[in-house]
Amino acid sequence: MSFYRIKQFYWAINSKLNNKDMEFLKKNLSTQELNLFLNLSVHEQKHCINVAYDVERVCKSQNINSKALLKASLLHDIGKCVKKLTIIDKSIIVILDKLSKGRLKRLSKFQKLYVYYNHSEISYEILKRYNCDYRILYLVKNHHNDEIKEDVELNILKMCDDRN
Ligand SMILES: [Fe+2]
Ligand SMILES: [Fe+2]
Repeated sequence: MSFYRIKQFYWAINSKLNNKDMEFLKKNLSTQELNLFLNLSVHEQKHCINVAYDVERVCKSQNINSKALLKASLLHDIGKCVKKLTIIDKSIIVILDKLSKGRLKRLSKFQKLYVYYNHSEISYEILKRYNCDYRILYLVKNHHNDEIKEDVELNILKMCDDRN
C-alpha cells in the first residue's frame, strides 16, 4: 500500500492525530513500520505518540540521543493491534498461535485478555518479522519487565509509558 493510500485511509478513520503527530511518525518510522502502527486503535496510537514525545523530552534533558529508543517508544505496544482482527496480517495469527501453543483458537473468548497480558511478547514477535534491530526488539520485549533495572533507556521507556 502506498504512503498516500495509508494516509488517506488514516485520515478517513482518524481525526485525533494532528499534523504534528503525523510528521513525527514519518520522521521516526519507515513506511512499513508506519503502516503497522496505523493498525493500532486511535486510542493506542495516541498513547504511543505521547510516550514517544515524553521520551524525546527526557532524552533531551539527559543528553541521550537514541533513535532505537524513540522507535521502541512508538512501537512498544504494537502487539495490541492484533485485537483489530479485520485489518490484521495473517502472519500475526500464526505468531499468536505459536505463542499460545494452539490454545488461542479454542479459547477465542480469552483472546483479548491474552493479548493484554502478552502484548510485549507479541510486539516483539511482530517486530522481529519486520527486521527491527536487536536493541529495539530488546526494549519492546522488556517494557513491562521489572527484573531489569540497570538499563537507562529501558527505564526511561518504562517511566514514560507509566505516566502517559
Ligand atoms: Fe505495554
Ligand atoms: Fe504502553
